Amino acid sequence: MLMIRKAAIGDVEAIKSIINAHAKKGLMLPRATYEVYETIRDFYVAQENRKVIGCCAIHIYGREYKDNTITEHVLGELRSLAVLPANQGNDVGTELVEYAISDVKSIGITKVFTLTYVKDFFKKMKFWEIKRHELPQKIWSDCKGCIKFPDECDETAMVREI
Ligand SMILES: CC(C)(COP(=O)(O)OP(=O)(O)OC[C@H]1O[C@@H](n2cnc3c(N)ncnc32)[C@H](O)[C@@H]1OP(=O)(O)O)[C@@H](O)C(=O)NCCC(=O)NCCS
Repeated sequence: MLMIRKAAIGDVEAIKSIINAHAKKGLMLPRATYEVYETIRDFYVAQENRKVIGCCAIHIYGREYKDNTITEHVLGELRSLAVLPANQGNDVGTELVEYAISDVKSIGITKVFTLTYVKDFFKKMKFWEIKRHELPQKIWSDCKGCIKFPDECDETAMVREI
């Protein structure tokens, strides 16, 4: 039976291995073990028969600034979404995203953005496309290690109000 829950320390290795298997294929950014520990409270996992089969994280950024003005929104970034290849296509990704969004909504986050290669998946999750420059500067610190940053970045920026 599928269970979605907040991640715990015991999930670090499973999370790292799911993310890095996809990172090797260029589908997402790799994560070092220490980074997963540092951000473990951002993570959610999908578990089936005691095995972790997927994960995602929402990192909280703070108030949204647009044109030097603070808007009414508080932003989170959805990232590190991945499901083991054998378990894809069974709504695990959908369940993870909806669970994570409803959890951060309950503490006051009002808008979630993502940078992604799977635009069609996120469209189904009620995200819409925006221009990358509309995202907060702070997010680019994560991109420094990416060989495509900045000029060849081909990810799509998307947001959803929640
Ligand atoms: C993207 C991913 C997390 C989706 O998880 P999943 O459990 O397979 O997705 P779901 O079964 O919940 O799919 C929901 C819908 O999105 C669609 N979808 C799933 N993966 C998709 C993809 N890669 N591209 C486009 N649409 C996709 C499904 O067809 C489904 O549509 P339907 O409801 O019309 O049938 C998974 O394919 C994955 O791990 N991909 C590799 C890592 C990756 O690209 N992560 C995203 C980084 S931003």
